[in-house]
Amino acid sequence: MTTDLYSEKILILDFGSQVTMLIARRVRELNVYCEIHPCTMTADAIRKFAPKGVILSGGPASVYAADAPRCDPLVFELGVPVLGICYGVQLMAHLFGGKVAHAAEREYGRTKLIVDDDGDLFAGFDAGGAVDVWMSHGDRVDELPPGFVAIASSDNSPFAAIADRRRRWFGVQFHPEVHHTPRGKEILANFVYDACDAKPPWTMANFVQTSVEQLRARLHGERVILGLSGGVDSAVVAALLHRAVGEQLTCIFVNNGVLRKGEAQQVQHVFARHFGMNLVYVDAEKRFFDKLAGVTDPERKRKIIGAEFIYVFEEEARKIQGVKFLAQGTLYPDVIESVSYRGPSATIKSHHNVGGLPEKMHLELVEPLRELFKDEVRQVGRELGLPADIVGRHPFPGPGLAVRIIGEVTPARVRILQDADAIFIHELKETNQYDQIWQALAVLLPVKSVGVMGDERTYENTCALRAVHSVDGMTADWVHIPYDTLGRISNRIINEVKGINRVVYDISSKPPSTIEWE
Ligand code: XMP
Repeated sequence: MTTDLYSEKILILDFGSQVTMLIARRVRELNVYCEIHPCTMTADAIRKFAPKGVILSGGPASVYAADAPRCDPLVFELGVPVLGICYGVQLMAHLFGGKVAHAAEREYGRTKLIVDDDGDLFAGFDAGGAVDVWMSHGDRVDELPPGFVAIASSDNSPFAAIADRRRRWFGVQFHPEVHHTPRGKEILANFVYDACDAKPPWTMANFVQTSVEQLRARLHGERVILGLSGGVDSAVVAALLHRAVGEQLTCIFVNNGVLRKGEAQQVQHVFARHFGMNLVYVDAEKRFFDKLAGVTDPERKRKIIGAEFIYVFEEEARKIQGVKFLAQGTLYPDVIESVSYRGPSATIKSHHNVGGLPEKMHLELVEPLRELFKDEVRQVGRELGLPADIVGRHPFPGPGLAVRIIGEVTPARVRILQDADAIFIHELKETNQYDQIWQALAVLLPVKSVGVMGDERTYENTCALRAVHSVDGMTADWVHIPYDTLGRISNRIINEVKGINRVVYDISSKPPSTIEWE
């Protein structure tokens, strides 16, 4: 008997906040399963979901606006606890007889919250004590709805946290889900564990066990193929499917010539030799280089590599007899993006879909990671025994080094960049900085400058290094790598990589500067 992973779940209704996804991540970190749905979720769907509690997210609207988003009233009739965050609490106050008004001063940023009551949401806190919270609101609750009491306040919000204990409805004006509210997770834990009484069976060990059973039942002796990229997601899908259906899985790995140094060998070593998976290794470097010859426009590079990958993959897939399923590493953030309340802000990223192949070859899609966040995927990878090197790997774009070589992509230029990148990454690992960084990369610039090496003058390329902290790749801050590390990396690259005689460090944040240079 396996634990029912989905028996104790929290429903998060999205009113359009930028950080709704973080609420889900925090709840998952408490080992409780939750899903984000648009606030327009129908009563039927809510009933079917059967949540143990509901969280109403923040959002940019004012409850008084003509088109202010609402949720189905069923949310408040289910008899389960409700927590409103920012717009969520304003909506509750507005709907149930309180008053919401435009605050004289917009409250934005780190704020001191005074905890008035150390029960409920603030169990474990000190009554009368102050804690840091993150605020971001123009409107605020000005008059409590009947049945509610204030349980915390700030200078600008007398009702910064409120509770109706009888109905187990709670509201906070601040954002407990963001990192800038250091004790936010405790507040969410108090809601999820105590108010909702949700038990935490959502662990990645349980997930692996449940998924393996589900995959076995669904794939039922049929063949499944998977495009392995060397990245974390497809590696974890491979390991999970291999655990579930072993020999029925065939992985296809296409060496497109623009991979990181040593990546092709590593994939063969780990998946074919160590795990013993059926692995088709396709050496397609020449095909890709031929197509990329003379191309300098980044979008054309992307299109060429995407299209060529599909040709190669399809060719190989057709050689495998009797395939019924195609597996891919779609993650929860991709799923949410396409159903978000603000509308499909982005359709599922094209690199996740093997360009119409499922329809063309009549394959059914298998996406075993659809419910997971990236950190959960990494945890699943660890559970399945994938090497730390693969599980902790930084994101790498589908078009690979091609979008890090400004100008034409040639085998010689790829080799130069691979060598520089390998040194950069190696030094970050040696100094224990790699795991703290979201993404680190080297870029080859078509800018030649003069250098003196020994008695010789050189006229060689420039290499730019970039390292960023980020949560999801949408925004990013450049990393303050210590000068001595930068110095060592620069020395090594200039001394060891023929073709580079100057190294620069990129100190731009996103926005406006994207993480990749192209
Ligand atoms: P940017 O450069 O837009 O990147 O700030 C955000 C994140 O997306 C990755 N990225 C890509 N991934 N195909 C991919 O699979 C692409 O064409 C692509 N372009 C950017 C980038 O590495 C970063 O993690």
